[in-house]
Amino acid sequence: MGLMSFIQEEIQIIRERDPAIRSNWEVLLYPSFKAVIRYRIAHKLYNKKHYFLARWISQRTVRKTGIEIHPGAQIGKGFFIDHGNGVVIGETTVIGDNVTLYQGVTLGGTGKEKGKRHPTIEDNVMISVGAKVIGSFTVGENSKIGAGSVVLSEVPPNSTVVGIPGRIVKQDNVRVPRLDMDQIHLPDPVLHDIEQLKKQNQELSLELRKLSEQIFGVNEEI
Ligand SMILES: CC(C)(COP(=O)(O)OP(=O)(O)OC[C@H]1O[C@@H](n2cnc3c(N)ncnc32)[C@H](O)[C@@H]1OP(=O)(O)O)[C@@H](O)C(=O)NCCC(=O)NCCS
Repeated sequence: MGLMSFIQEEIQIIRERDPAIRSNWEVLLYPSFKAVIRYRIAHKLYNKKHYFLARWISQRTVRKTGIEIHPGAQIGKGFFIDHGNGVVIGETTVIGDNVTLYQGVTLGGTGKEKGKRHPTIEDNVMISVGAKVIGSFTVGENSKIGAGSVVLSEVPPNSTVVGIPGRIVKQDNVRVPRLDMDQIHLPDPVLHDIEQLKKQNQELSLELRKLSEQIFGVNEEI
């Protein structure tokens, strides 16, 4: 894609997704615009095995925009990072088309995996401010990840995931009921043991009374 068509596409994406933009010129001020254009160049260099140059561009971009995209990551069309600061995208991340990220998003690895270590984000996914998506699983198309979530496992398509660790709260626009977790009435193992001992004591007392009746012929309270 030529530079002019890239700029035109970026103008369209940003105008569609950020209501704060007032004129096409403002696109040039967006960190996302600067980061994505430099990433596309760095990615081409990376694919041609010019690893040092590719990393040099990407690290320079971090200083200018606060957005760190590893040149090895694969990113589709229509990608937009709103605000941008603190975004980190790891080397083996795969991002589909029309994906939106907000500031503070990490698409990272757990540190436990080798090879493909970072997530795959399918088309039309939105990852909200501060969310961390960590591991080599897939976030299915059209899903939304809530602000501040930490997502550690596969997300099916058309889901909304929120919280730490991330849980599915909506699927195909239908609310997923929350599992009832009673945090107040927790089991008390000591009380359980005492109840067991009381029961055994009652049984023994009954046995003793029966024996006493058989031997002495009296019904004494023991
Ligand atoms: C997740 C989000 C995208 C909403 O998606 P949605 O599919 O429309 O989901 P809903 O708003 O219907 O929320 C579903 C449930 O998740 C809860 N929820 C939503 N976002 C949440 C979050 N970030 N953390 C915890 N719970 C959240 C809601 O309270 C609701 O719970 P309930 O069913 O008990 O009422 C939105 O809440 C969000 O996080 N937006 C942030 C966007 C952003 O990054 N903006 C920054 C601009 S600078």
